[in-house]
Amino acid sequence: MKPYAGKVERSDTLDSVLGSVVVHGSPDAKILVTRKGNRRTIQKKQRYGRDMDEAQLEFNSENGVSCLGQSVEEIVEQRISSAIFEMLSSREHLTESEIDGHVKGATTLKRKTLRVLVAEEQILREGAGERNDPFRYRLKCGRCKPALNGRMDKIDLICQNPADNPFLKEQAPPTTPALGVAGGKMKSKNEWHKAMYNKAFAEETIGSQRFIELAKKQVAFLVEATNLKLGDSVLDVPCGVGRHSLEFAKYGAKVIGVDISKDCLKIAKQKFKHKNVQYLHGSMQDLKKFKRRFDLVVNLFTSFGYFFTDEENFKVLKSMTSCLTPGGKVIVNLIDRDFILPLFQPARWNEVDGRMVLEASRYDKKTKYNESQMFMVNKKFSPPKLEHYHYHRVRLYSKAEMVDLMKKAGLTNIKVYGDFDGGPYKKGKSTHPIYVGTKK
Ligand SMILES: C[S@@+](CC[C@H](N)C(=O)[O-])C[C@H]1O[C@@H](n2cnc3c(N)ncnc32)[C@H](O)[C@@H]1O
Repeated sequence: MKPYAGKVERSDTLDSVLGSVVVHGSPDAKILVTRKGNRRTIQKKQRYGRDMDEAQLEFNSENGVSCLGQSVEEIVEQRISSAIFEMLSSREHLTESEIDGHVKGATTLKRKTLRVLVAEEQILREGAGERNDPFRYRLKCGRCKPALNGRMDKIDLICQNPADNPFLKEQAPPTTPALGVAGGKMKSKNEWHKAMYNKAFAEETIGSQRFIELAKKQVAFLVEATNLKLGDSVLDVPCGVGRHSLEFAKYGAKVIGVDISKDCLKIAKQKFKHKNVQYLHGSMQDLKKFKRRFDLVVNLFTSFGYFFTDEENFKVLKSMTSCLTPGGKVIVNLIDRDFILPLFQPARWNEVDGRMVLEASRYDKKTKYNESQMFMVNKKFSPPKLEHYHYHRVRLYSKAEMVDLMKKAGLTNIKVYGDFDGGPYKKGKSTHPIYVGTKK
């Protein structure tokens, strides 16, 4: 190597990194971390073998871990395809030079991206490619934003009010019954939880055989963990279709199940009835009438954190606690933030049988709320039909935050289980921890 080589020396890309330091030796590999705006990229130059392409470094501030993201070339290609889609959704039949003129990026990359999009049939090319008849491009389906490699090309689908989403308006007015959730019932974004849990949701999830079986095992554990006795009173809020209420009743408890969804309650009264259970329509924000009446209050399967602010959510926990007799217990069971965040994907899609499910999510690090929109589009129709849509916004909690909240709500002797087998909580591994607190 050349001693005293300048830092800007380009003659040998590997040695130049040593700058003016006199070192005897010869590096075999150089790892370069570069700052680009508020991003960092990483690349590796090697004397032998293949260099590593420049890729984005993704830092997860929740767990302090950096990992390798997409390659810079992929990111640029996606940006270019986004810009192409953007252009073609407002103006069709554009020529290559018109696209070139409006989309930023290297011409070779723009051309390459156009070719890929045409080959993947995401956009259509018309014309003969001659002077008098140049190639012209347009979106295959003027309404939907196609997806690239399993990631949605355009991820910022979250509108201030989902009912105002232009995508929805175009495809189906909010009154369309097939839409299930999107329109009609939901007056504002903050009321998502009053609209989402309809019959279809119940049938696919909490009312399905798999969830019913799970509830049996879960209640068996909860009865033991809380030492519930015959004749004890239980408030299951929100109870959904009553899968847990029924099991508690079978153990000899007197149960009241409260839920805001009339669809869920209808199923509960038909399929999950028991002489010891009473199902009531109501909100978990309004539990005044139940003050000091219960030995156990349960809030299961991520039914906490639905409200707009931390204060509102805390009020729910406090009023659940106020429903207890002294010595009574509150159980909250919800998705764990330290488990879910490392798996977070801002956009994903899949397609089964001509039905595309697209989900766009956004996690706000400051407020710790996650908001998601899900679109189910049936491509068998022309134009493709939006069959189902929902929006939800949930506060994600860590173990420390939940324990703190329970203490503040007047609960003591807080126990945290990692699962319904009674295993210990493990950070990053426990999916839905179970918090049990006792009223002072
Ligand atoms: C994820 S489900 C869980 C239901 C039940 N705990 C279970 O595990 O099957 C959430 C439930 O919360 C209900 N819900 C949403 N907002 C509510 C509110 N403000 N008051 C009462 N229930 C509400 C929904 O209707 C839905 O049944």
